[in-house]
Amino acid sequence: MTSCHPCRICGGPVREFFDFGRQPVSDVFPAPADVGTEHFYRLAVGFCEDCTMVQQLEEVSREKMFPADYPYRSSGSSLMGQHFEATAAHFLATELAGADPFYVEIGCNDGIMLNSVRAAGVRHLGVDPAAHAAQTAGASGSRVHIGFFEESTAHRIRETEGAAQLVFSANTISHIAYIDSVFAGVHALLAEGGVFVFEDRYLGDIVTHTYFDQIYDEHFYLFSARSVQAMARRYGFDLIDVEHLPVHGGTMRYTTARSGERPVRPSVSRQLSYEHDQKLAESATYASFGARIESHCAQLHVLLTDLKAQGKRVVGYGATCKSATVTNYCAIGPDLISAVCDSTPDKQHRVTPGSHIPIVPSASFTAPYPDYAVLFAWNHAAEIMAKEQSFKAAGGRWILYVPDIHVV
Ligand code: SAH
Ligand code: TYD
Ligand code: ZN
Repeated sequence: MTSCHPCRICGGPVREFFDFGRQPVSDVFPAPADVGTEHFYRLAVGFCEDCTMVQQLEEVSREKMFPADYPYRSSGSSLMGQHFEATAAHFLATELAGADPFYVEIGCNDGIMLNSVRAAGVRHLGVDPAAHAAQTAGASGSRVHIGFFEESTAHRIRETEGAAQLVFSANTISHIAYIDSVFAGVHALLAEGGVFVFEDRYLGDIVTHTYFDQIYDEHFYLFSARSVQAMARRYGFDLIDVEHLPVHGGTMRYTTARSGERPVRPSVSRQLSYEHDQKLAESATYASFGARIESHCAQLHVLLTDLKAQGKRVVGYGATCKSATVTNYCAIGPDLISAVCDSTPDKQHRVTPGSHIPIVPSASFTAPYPDYAVLFAWNHAAEIMAKEQSFKAAGGRWILYVPDIHVV
């Protein structure tokens, strides 16, 4: 059923384009004894006819998504470690190169980026409500505030520590429905001429490559340059630069500054015209995206059912948030995928939310290997396939379901 909701950014009409139905919170993994206690909500997405922001129609409370024991650890991927080391080096040479700079990071998690800034001797503060992850950053010597960043947090930081030259956030701003409060806070916290830089999954990649599993509770907004520019303007900022990055299957880094404080780089108009050519603001684009989602899920289900009928053993690789959407929307349970292996200690010996597939340590992905492995962590394909070469050598095959269903 389609419905029309007011846009969280501009109040305009949001037209629903896809309904995944009842979905669980994606990053809370129940212990086998707690199966059935998951929180479910209706995962539906639409786009605003006025500001073009793609967003969810129902919101999950932040406390349910980001509890103290939130299990995700950024440092689980060495590729992401390299990405954030390079990012820190870039900022240390640019925005943080002046006298006594101050760096604030929203959603620092286990310190994957923050630790590099701290190691360079720069004043810093990470903010994250996921207490266990943030304490890991704290244990490495980085300064963290455990809590949600919002306007009041920013005022307190400004009063006690002064203004920030750089507020940075990766894979977090799109998770925050109450984004007006975040921008108001950053507006108060930034030093004159300072920048607010955030990187998130890019809508253009999600639609072009049918990365439908990037749609789950935490990704409340799916940003484009156009929607971010409109949003930034509304909150007193200019979008001054964009940079496309290959991580997480396609990410965009948005650099914003208070209106009029910094020149706008040509990358912005280039990206806007790319998005125009890709028809990213047209409803027909989303209708065909939705049709592809349905067809991909049906094909994946047929493939797994056939393999089961042939007596093949199939496991999953990577208990990602993305896999919550795939398994729950495509009706994939322990009958089709016997287990999912994952390197994250806090996910192991639990089950996948909603679909209840047992999660086992990556170390158990070993001979005798399964016949097939569904690569739920497809964004880490290069890293994972390189370390699991003996699976292929033993005759095992990877199943990928983006950008279409294929076996390698
Ligand atoms: N920046 C890391 C972590 C991304 S996961 C990376 O790119 O790998 C998202 C993180 O944002 C989680 O650790 C979550 O606890 C945190 N988060 C969610 N809402 C937040 C808010 N309002 N303020 C600060 N952190 C938040
Ligand atoms: P990620 O791709 O960040 O996904 P999402 O945001 O959808 O949760 O998560 C990767 C998951 O895969 C994480 O749970 C850790 C796991 N993983 C492994 O088990 N082995 C690996 O080599 C890598 C890189 C990740
Ligand atoms: Zn809008």
